[in-house]
Amino acid sequence: MPPTNNDRSLVIVANRLPVQRVRRGTTSTWQTSPGGLVAALHPLLRKHGGSWVGWPGGEGGSSRAFRHDGMDIKPVTLSAGQIEGFYEGFSNGTLWPLYHDVLRTPRFRRSWWRSYVEVNQKFADAIEPLVGPGSMVWIHDYHLQLVPKMLRQRRADLRIGFFLHIPFPAPELFARMPWRAEVLEGLLASDVIGFQTRAVAQNFLRASRRLTRATGSGCTLRLDDHTIRVQPFPIAIDIEEFESLANAESAGERTRSLRAKFGPKRKLVLGVDRLDYTKGIDVRLRAIEEVLRRGEFSARDMCFVQIAVPSRENVDDYASLRREVEQAVGRINGEYAEPGQVAVHYLHRRLSREDLVAYYMAADVMMVTPLRDGMNLIAKEYAASRIDGTGVLLLSEFAGAANELRQAVLVNPFDIDGMAKAVQTALTMPPAEQRRRMRSLRNAVHSYDLYDWAARFLGALRGDQDA
Ligand code: F6P
Repeated sequence: MPPTNNDRSLVIVANRLPVQRVRRGTTSTWQTSPGGLVAALHPLLRKHGGSWVGWPGGEGGSSRAFRHDGMDIKPVTLSAGQIEGFYEGFSNGTLWPLYHDVLRTPRFRRSWWRSYVEVNQKFADAIEPLVGPGSMVWIHDYHLQLVPKMLRQRRADLRIGFFLHIPFPAPELFARMPWRAEVLEGLLASDVIGFQTRAVAQNFLRASRRLTRATGSGCTLRLDDHTIRVQPFPIAIDIEEFESLANAESAGERTRSLRAKFGPKRKLVLGVDRLDYTKGIDVRLRAIEEVLRRGEFSARDMCFVQIAVPSRENVDDYASLRREVEQAVGRINGEYAEPGQVAVHYLHRRLSREDLVAYYMAADVMMVTPLRDGMNLIAKEYAASRIDGTGVLLLSEFAGAANELRQAVLVNPFDIDGMAKAVQTALTMPPAEQRRRMRSLRNAVHSYDLYDWAARFLGALRGDQDA
């Protein structure tokens, strides 16, 4: 449930705004974006008044603040050069691969760093006029790690919180970055720094003690006269939203229609991801290929559906991943499809939440096998949508969600044979065992929701000791 909140005024800062511009003919309007973070924070902003600062997407545009659906929105616009240097470059060509355990080689380009500093400053400049004395500012994610210090230098009175949605790497990897001290010191100007898991929070604590003057033990650091609380706050989903989508009559109809299309007697194995190299889609396809090669299951018995949401298409590593994945789909179907029965269905598009839930409900097996992931909410969404209590979740050990969803079939996503075996186990799992595991997964997902998560973080930012 949306929390009640007696906060001081609140400013949310994230790379993306919670609204999208929708064009109709010659005019355009703003629409609230779908998605978890917006759903969790929107009620708080609406109820208590507060602003959201972020990039509206695309190049240029107006940076004039406006009101939308009870929120004050402050756009931070980016030039073409800043999109290239700050967003595609430093954020997604340097930090993203570095923070995901160097799954691709991070590029340390000085011009990208300069653009990152410039855009972080632009955000700090946009935030400052919006915050009254003692306001809370909650900054999200790796794009904006310098903003806490930039704000603190001008406004000692603010309560500044930072939450990292993605992993933070081991200090040995992080230490490669030429601007490591600047990034850590940028973050350490926050009052509270939140991470998805305890292990990742530990990485940050170790890196800070090793690479800056910060001292401290447990989850408290001190730098100069400033105290910083560093803590895991694992993110959750809006359970009510998923359950009500799953309970809707139309969901049943959509699910039956999907099952009929894919073949009612065939087992359906599903993957849903942004098309990102951290998600392990390429290795997952190799595992499916291995299952088919072993011959115990053919395209008459099962099909694999991969929904791949287009993402960051101007970044080279994403473009080459797309080519690789599409080649693999072609190769597997060439070898194993039967007339009228495709072995791998590949949908390169974004689906509505209603359609997504219908896919979750139709899938006998859900493969969430990222090579590295901060949390992975798809795993939680699958469990929340399985109101019939069946279905098998195959989950990567390297997703943050694996800490909570212990009754998933846990897999090493780098191990093709191990994953193929896990798929076979899942396809033949007796219904009683499916129910036992799914009950536990659903209990875990029900233990707290997205609103609890936001309330906990803001409680810590207000200084509550038990948050
Ligand atoms: O998981 C990190 C994240 O930045 C999310 O906040 C965001 O929804 C997703 O990746 C997509 O990223 P982008 O904003 O680059 O499209």
